[in-house]
Amino acid sequence: MPVVREHGVTEPTGRLVPVVRDLAKPMSIHLPQWPQAGEREAELLRNVLESEQWGGFHPYIKEFEDSFAAFQHCPHGIAVFNGTVSLELALSALGIGAGDEIIVPVISFISTATAVSRAGATPVFVDVEPDSFNIHPERAREAISANTKAIMAVHFGGTPCRLDELSRICQENNLLLLEDAAHAQGSEWNGRRVGSFGLAGSFSFQNGKVLTAGEGGILVTHDPEFAGRARSIANCGRIPGRSFYEHPILGANFRMTAFQAAVLLAQMERLPEQIELRAANVRLLKNLLADLPELQWQSQPEQVTQNSWYLLSARLQDPPCCGRVRRALTAAGVPNSFYPHPLYKNAVYSRVPCRVMPCPAAEAMVRDSFWLPHRVLLAEEDALHEIARTIRSAVQV
Ligand SMILES: Cc1ncc(COP(=O)(O)O)c(C=O)c1O
Repeated sequence: MPVVREHGVTEPTGRLVPVVRDLAKPMSIHLPQWPQAGEREAELLRNVLESEQWGGFHPYIKEFEDSFAAFQHCPHGIAVFNGTVSLELALSALGIGAGDEIIVPVISFISTATAVSRAGATPVFVDVEPDSFNIHPERAREAISANTKAIMAVHFGGTPCRLDELSRICQENNLLLLEDAAHAQGSEWNGRRVGSFGLAGSFSFQNGKVLTAGEGGILVTHDPEFAGRARSIANCGRIPGRSFYEHPILGANFRMTAFQAAVLLAQMERLPEQIELRAANVRLLKNLLADLPELQWQSQPEQVTQNSWYLLSARLQDPPCCGRVRRALTAAGVPNSFYPHPLYKNAVYSRVPCRVMPCPAAEAMVRDSFWLPHRVLLAEEDALHEIARTIRSAVQV
């Protein structure tokens, strides 16, 4: 019998219960498929298939690098095969290594931290703001030591971090600002796209992301020197214009394939409209549930001028209530999830060196929060009304 194992549901006890859905049974609330593809993806993929270059030297790679970097308001982009590698590439191009510390938020995907560890440096885990779910600038400031080299800002769910404060803290303390913008294609702070604030911005195009080729990643930057170093490392240590077999730099092969670039170029044409639709549906859901004081949506600082809405997240303050909402959504066939624990509670960090600052906000958040993935926010209006009813009846038992 075909089953799909979606993200698990974290019970209020902290126990992760996997959600196993029988594909033969129709979902009660209709949601659009994700990823979405059409004739444009097929056309560009056919062009690659019919070319004699399926790898990282097809002109689509540069076309995608240039257009995505420009979309994020950056002059340089280095396309790679996923967002984990893109983070690792950024740290490698900066020469981050043993003895260095990088400050990371504890509400994120594991790659934000493991990229630091795999560089040989130490992640320093700091708390998030209880309302925005994003790194708390003051908690980040308190974590700075003589070994700190950078703050890694993660724009959780697509909502930009407090970029003014983080930029100021980095400037005052001679630190680099790096952006893990895996969730935030198209998100803006004061009209400027994320990924363009720090020295480097890293994006993921993994299957569930708002711009996807199944896998993929890119590093964007304003700094031509950093871009050159990163590009060389990602391309076996080669230098543009020099022989194919000259490798003056210690590199690796992180190149994106032409198939990924073809799909991403086509997906970019869909992205602006999808962002608008998600924003409209977020407004609708929030309006439909505006009278529920228990439901506290991820706050949006006034400087957020656009949000990719990769995730629509909320806190319920009350773990049993959160458990009820998540079970009701799951039973209705609506995907929902939340990180089961702050990053430092992953088993890997019982062995791998790290420094952990007090994180009471994140500890509470993992018990009383849930997110709806962006596929839900592309649904028809009827489905959104049904989702709102499902949430309401689980909150108001
Ligand atoms: C915040 C964050 N950083 C990094 C990554 C890693 O990206 P990828 O899955 O493309 O390796 C992800 C992926 O989900 C992520 O959510």
